[in-house]
Amino acid sequence: MDEIKIKSTEHNYSIYLGYDIYKNLPQHLSTHYSSILILTDENVKKLYLKEVEESLHDYTVYTKVVKPGEESKTIDVFYDVHSYLIEMGCDRNSLMIALGGGVVGDLAGFVAATYMRGIDYIQLPTTILAHDSSVGGKVAINHEYGKNLIGNFHAPRLIIYDIKTLKSLSIKEIRSGYAELIKEALIANDSFFNNLLAVSVHSVNFNHLQNHLKKGIETKAIIVEQDEKEHGVRMHLNLGHTLGHGLETYFEYHTLTHGEAVAIGLLFSLYVSEQLLSAELPTKALFKWLKENDYPLKLKAINLKRLIKLMKSDKKAVNQSIQMVLLSRVGSPLTRKIDNHELEKYLREFFSNLGSDVL
Ligand SMILES: NC(=O)c1ccc[n+]([C@@H]2O[C@H](COP(=O)([O-])OP(=O)(O)OC[C@H]3O[C@@H](n4cnc5c(N)ncnc54)[C@H](O)[C@@H]3O)[C@@H](O)[C@H]2O)c1
Ligand SMILES: [Zn+2]
Repeated sequence: MDEIKIKSTEHNYSIYLGYDIYKNLPQHLSTHYSSILILTDENVKKLYLKEVEESLHDYTVYTKVVKPGEESKTIDVFYDVHSYLIEMGCDRNSLMIALGGGVVGDLAGFVAATYMRGIDYIQLPTTILAHDSSVGGKVAINHEYGKNLIGNFHAPRLIIYDIKTLKSLSIKEIRSGYAELIKEALIANDSFFNNLLAVSVHSVNFNHLQNHLKKGIETKAIIVEQDEKEHGVRMHLNLGHTLGHGLETYFEYHTLTHGEAVAIGLLFSLYVSEQLLSAELPTKALFKWLKENDYPLKLKAINLKRLIKLMKSDKKAVNQSIQMVLLSRVGSPLTRKIDNHELEKYLREFFSNLGSDVL
């Protein structure tokens, strides 16, 4: 089992990463919790809830199950979870446990950040992508105008990442998670990136995967420890996300998973970096890997004006001007303001290179 320690201004916490480790949960828990609410979604409930509940038999445990997917990161579901906590008599000494992917983690974390002005929470991530979402304390729900627009920073007390759970992921979710690992590798260094290019999402080696998750988390940890509240270098973790979030919202979270949208966003960031900075980047190698692993790269006709409007309502936009994360080389990210005219030009060229129609 690996342990990665994260420093936070709220409190430090550990991530335990290993195989079949839910049984260790009680030994990491403080005994003062008056009750525990496990928040999970319908899919994860069927697979892993019983095991987690059993490990907590010494506590008063309640469970709240939400619908799978982005549709649960809404103000209505958020309110509903609060109502349930109140109805069950949960108090300031109650603990929230997020059992699931990034959706459950973001929702549970935001409820925990706000219930009675904040209670403790723990993340039990069950997707590859959640190696990213569970670390760093960003918690949020969506507004119809854009993703993660309502949120806070609230550090978890503990993360227990049981690799066993990743075996039941669909290919689509494996693909989604690996895109976020590719993001971290592009921010980190060539050797991590080249390791990932050897992966086939169709035949994942779980020992290798544990290693990749550890490297991804370590990359994120170094950055969030320097800049927890995203005033500077933490923005680099948004590589690929300005377009990624825009596309997710554009397609109303149905067509593309978060990671699939980020994969297109990463390619776009490399393209703009080459154009604007004359950077030498492994764009061809990334494109080839994405194609071989069946990432959806050719999209239905795109209305550029609408997409750009959505990109501007992203949190990373400052004064309505897009801040993009670019790379001068692998391992060297930077942020650049891109004006409207440039953005439109690059998007037009980029989508036409991918064979997508632009309106
Ligand atoms: N807070 C952050 O810093 C941060 C960072 C990155 C992403 N995110 C957020 O994370 C979310 C995406 O997370 P996600 O990709 O994990 O999505 P998700 O939570 O919707 O999970 C994807 C799907 O996989 C299913 N699933 C989960 N675990 C499973 C398992 N072990 N076996 C089988 N099926 C399983 C879920 O039910 C769901 O249908 C987005 O909302 C994104 O904004 C947040
Ligand atoms: Zn992401």
